[in-house]
Amino acid sequence: MVTGAASGMGAATARLFAAEGDRVVVVDRNAEGAEATAAEIGGLAVVGDISDSAFCDSAVAQAVDTFGRLDVLVNAAGTIVRADADNTSDADWLRVMSVNVSGTFFLCRAAVREMKAQGKGAIVNFGSIWGDVGGKGHVAYCASKGAIHQLTRALALDHARDGIRVNGVCPGEVDTPMLRSARSVAVTDEYLANMADATIPMGRLAQPEEIGRVVLFLASDAASYMTGALVPVDAGYTAV
Ligand SMILES: NC(=O)c1ccc[n+]([C@@H]2O[C@H](COP(=O)([O-])OP(=O)(O)OC[C@H]3O[C@@H](n4cnc5c(N)ncnc54)[C@H](O)[C@@H]3O)[C@@H](O)[C@H]2O)c1
Repeated sequence: MVTGAASGMGAATARLFAAEGDRVVVVDRNAEGAEATAAEIGGLAVVGDISDSAFCDSAVAQAVDTFGRLDVLVNAAGTIVRADADNTSDADWLRVMSVNVSGTFFLCRAAVREMKAQGKGAIVNFGSIWGDVGGKGHVAYCASKGAIHQLTRALALDHARDGIRVNGVCPGEVDTPMLRSARSVAVTDEYLANMADATIPMGRLAQPEEIGRVVLFLASDAASYMTGALVPVDAGYTAV
């Protein structure tokens, strides 16, 4: 199951799993995008809002009804507000927290219940460089990603002896619709190239697949001794 799989890194990750022969459940609130990804990879689209815990329970139930089990959950769905505290409304704050933190938690909880019964499972959560270091003008988003990092570690410890591994990826700047969204300036290729040159040690943005490949590894048995890890995939951004 990959959430946020209508777009960006979720969609790239869903394609990579399908290329390995996996049967993928594509979860997103964007019905058109979810159905397009699912049609492309022969997966099952489950459309809804992850900030609704009843939806999350029913998404996992649909996955298990359809495919018999749930081996992997990837929580890539997320949202962003680009504002400092003074310009973050109650509604902005609550939206970011309810999608990024509560939505990730609700799906992890539903998945863990299923995976415990199976005796095996792997969860990969999308954190961020900004769950680790601060990012100016993104106060709610940074707080939400820090919470995802700690949720990941705490879940990993709770389920280390249940056969469930819980890890996270912490992407740097990745060229997706989210990266280009909600900026106060026009986002041109030149703007993005200048931003990358100024802020990223390798001097370029990531492509979504460059993160998806790390997710695939963390979800696989090749990462059998990894749990509770938050893996930066950031071209050196947090190495500074
Ligand atoms: N793009 C970056 O540079 C970057 C960097 C670090 C972390 N991230 C994180 O990576 C993840 C994927 O981001 P992306 O850049 O691919 O974004 P994106 O905007 O391209 O895709 C996010 C997807 O999540 C879905 N979504 C949002 N809210 C939802 C909800 N309530 N219920 C169901 N689906 C919902 C959207 O419809 C969209 O399809 C996010 O968690 C994001 O915070 C992104």
